Amino acid sequence: MSVESRATVERPGKASTRIKRASIWAQTEDGVIGDGKAMLWHVPADFHHFKEKTWGCPLIMGRASYEALGTPLRGRLNIVLTRNQGYNPVNTGQTAKSDDHGGLAVVHSLADAFTLAEEEAARTGAPTIWIAGGAQVYKQAMSQVDELVVSYLDLEVAAPKHAAVAPNIDPAEWHVINEESDSEWRPQSGDARWLVKVYRRWTESPAEAFQNSENPVPGNRWPGTKGPSQNVNGARIEQV
Ligand SMILES: NC(=O)c1ccc[n+]([C@@H]2O[C@H](COP(=O)([O-])OP(=O)(O)OC[C@H]3O[C@@H](n4cnc5c(N)ncnc54)[C@H](OP(=O)(O)O)[C@@H]3O)[C@@H](O)[C@H]2O)c1
Repeated sequence: MSVESRATVERPGKASTRIKRASIWAQTEDGVIGDGKAMLWHVPADFHHFKEKTWGCPLIMGRASYEALGTPLRGRLNIVLTRNQGYNPVNTGQTAKSDDHGGLAVVHSLADAFTLAEEEAARTGAPTIWIAGGAQVYKQAMSQVDELVVSYLDLEVAAPKHAAVAPNIDPAEWHVINEESDSEWRPQSGDARWLVKVYRRWTESPAEAFQNSENPVPGNRWPGTKGPSQNVNGARIEQV
């Protein structure tokens, strides 16, 4: 289903609302988001940012990311994608506390994940459905989300053999929303300084937007990079 063809949701007593779909991740300059099994850094302020953004909203994540977390995240419906029809997340040896989270559901396609997430958002009034990883799921969802919320970490990690990497952000499709993005590093938190960039799809062509804007920011350049737009993701590491 394309972004454009998506249905709006009627909420009693409210004008019909289109539930936003967004991806949220944290990455290094090389686009690394993990080693396929776990996160490679500890940046508590970014965890807090993730929690704040996603609280009360349905989360969609791949089975590997769910297992890396080890437990459903509180206050949010955790929708786990797997092709394994017999997958039972409570049998993974992890520590799900059934009374302590917003719920856990297993689905077998991205379309089903969005359907369930939309039902949940319509029920609870959540404004956004969040894609919460990992690399495989971010990549598949790229054509179906409206917004990207990316934390850039000023951190170098030795590229793991099976690195999970962020999807490519094509400047022809996405642009930075200056008002919602940091222009400077936030203070060091745990392992790294960090900053957040919010991207939305162009609603006009990049060329038109460039002409219409006094301060255009084409594409996603690495924070602090001067000169022509540079794609920060996946340049050195093969995409999953
Ligand atoms: N830095 C960040 O912000 C961030 C955020 C989240 C995750 N991560 C990291 O990302 C890594 C995991 O990423 P990953 O790419 O290896 O795995 P993933 O995307 O989390 O999960 C992949 C699994 O999801 C299931 N899946 C994917 N697409 C599906 C579809 N269309 N239909 C049904 N099932 C589907 C499959 O599970 P089955 O194999 O069971 O069929 C697949 O093996 C970890 O290191 C994690 O820590 C980082």
